[in-house]
Amino acid sequence: MNDPDWWRNAAVYQIYPRSFADANGDGIGDLAGITSRIPYLRDLGIDAVWLSPFYPSALSDGGYDVDEYRDVDPRIGSLDDFDLIVSALHDAGLKIIVDIVPNHTSDRHAWFQEALAAGPGSPARDRYIFRGGKGEHGELPPADWQSKFGGPGWTRVPDGQWYLHTFAKEQPDLNWANREVRDDFLTTLAFWADRGVDGFRVDVAHYLTKAIPEVLPSWEELRSPGAYSEGFHPLVDRDEVHEIYAEWRALFNSYAPPRAAVAEAWVPAHRRVRYASPESLGQAFNFDLLSAGWDATEFRRIISDNLDLAARSGASSTWVFSSHDKVRHATRFGLGTRTNGKAWLLTGGTDPVEDRTLGLARARAATLLSLALPGSAYLYQGEELGLPEVAEIPDECRQDPAFYRNKGVEVGRDGCRVPLPWTPDGSSFGFGPGGAHLPQPAWFAGYAVTIQDNDPDSTLNLYRRALDLRSRLRTQESLEWLDLGPHVVAFRRPNGWTSITNFGDETVVFDGGEQLLSSSATSEDGIVEPSTTAWFAA
Ligand code: NOJ
Ligand code: CA
Repeated sequence: MNDPDWWRNAAVYQIYPRSFADANGDGIGDLAGITSRIPYLRDLGIDAVWLSPFYPSALSDGGYDVDEYRDVDPRIGSLDDFDLIVSALHDAGLKIIVDIVPNHTSDRHAWFQEALAAGPGSPARDRYIFRGGKGEHGELPPADWQSKFGGPGWTRVPDGQWYLHTFAKEQPDLNWANREVRDDFLTTLAFWADRGVDGFRVDVAHYLTKAIPEVLPSWEELRSPGAYSEGFHPLVDRDEVHEIYAEWRALFNSYAPPRAAVAEAWVPAHRRVRYASPESLGQAFNFDLLSAGWDATEFRRIISDNLDLAARSGASSTWVFSSHDKVRHATRFGLGTRTNGKAWLLTGGTDPVEDRTLGLARARAATLLSLALPGSAYLYQGEELGLPEVAEIPDECRQDPAFYRNKGVEVGRDGCRVPLPWTPDGSSFGFGPGGAHLPQPAWFAGYAVTIQDNDPDSTLNLYRRALDLRSRLRTQESLEWLDLGPHVVAFRRPNGWTSITNFGDETVVFDGGEQLLSSSATSEDGIVEPSTTAWFAA
């Protein structure tokens, strides 16, 4: 339980709290709902749970707009419920990671309200990034910068100043040059660590520090490759961000065992090393497989690059196929190689056409491959059911700001955030005694947990068997590549655990050892069908 390295090879299950399980029937998932499902999580065989934000929030960005960092949204529960979930998870042998959102608060946060009331030039405004506008009366934004979900990145307040928001306008960016901001986050981290939290997932860890010059560059200049030298871009991935994480690390290391942290940093692979170093956050998400096509060469390159990078940082690698931000991988892999990376274009289930059978086969194979790799696997709720993306959400039910701010370009991320089906019937497929805050399609019935429980070949039972084997087979963090042809990714771990994935169209025969598991229910032992991964004791 006190192993300081528990995170290095953990299988971490991401819970999007509002969509996991609803105990009180108001249609919104809650902490009590999650606690009631701890036996399910334990039996799944994961090592840790990561909770996406559960803090008080207007939900302008699914909870990533935090009103108050040291509390629980009353619609989700209370601090007492939180303490309960921590002890119940620990009793079940599971760790808990919480999400920290340091780049921006919500516009309802006391600090932002204070900043609005205090006026230009006040210390309260210095906690955020305010500027005067352009034009004769300051009526134009200070610069033409765009926000992440579309639309302008500066918004005007009633007294005429403008504030920067990298994301939605309800998410004003904090000024991390302000010591009070830094101290307050240290207080927040200690608040949760003291409550027994084992680790932190750090939201957009590469955005915190900014050096915005007097004369603001244009959006085009900011985006032009090569305009700024590495580590010195005015807004992103500045080297000095690690001064902040060094302070966080000192705090984390004052606990026994030290608290873990994983950076969400969308930076070039070689820049990830610093976030993952033991002096900084200690681990960083590797999102490379999220945009990989179904291609053996691409997978092999991504895996070996990331194992090298992890070794350079002193961390272990991470592997991710799905999250609350991306089209579910059972759908992505069913859209055809060409569209894999462009799954955002999914516009209602018909274009591009989704091949559900192929998508699920490849998703199962991809997951089995990643679970055999050294490092941590981050799994997203519902992927263990093989859930596809829900494309058919009526416009009026959508919640994601990306849908509203970027109309006609993308449908947003609601399709992977639909409440889970636990049973094939009931008002919300067992999600809770009431409805569901995002509509669940009728086909969810076929993916329900209770249905899959009784089917030995279900995706749920595949995950259970794989996670169980993985925890028993886990070995040194290294692998040896095997050459079984250009369309096969095959490797052996030091204790003789071999994983073979067939990306090609021809069957692969392997007679080098006893078959332990196959992602395909129909494959015979020793035969790795196309779009299949099999594990061998060899
Ligand atoms: C990354 C989170 O994963 C995403 O859901 C959120 O919208 C942005 N950060 C902004 O906080
Ligand atoms: Ca509820």
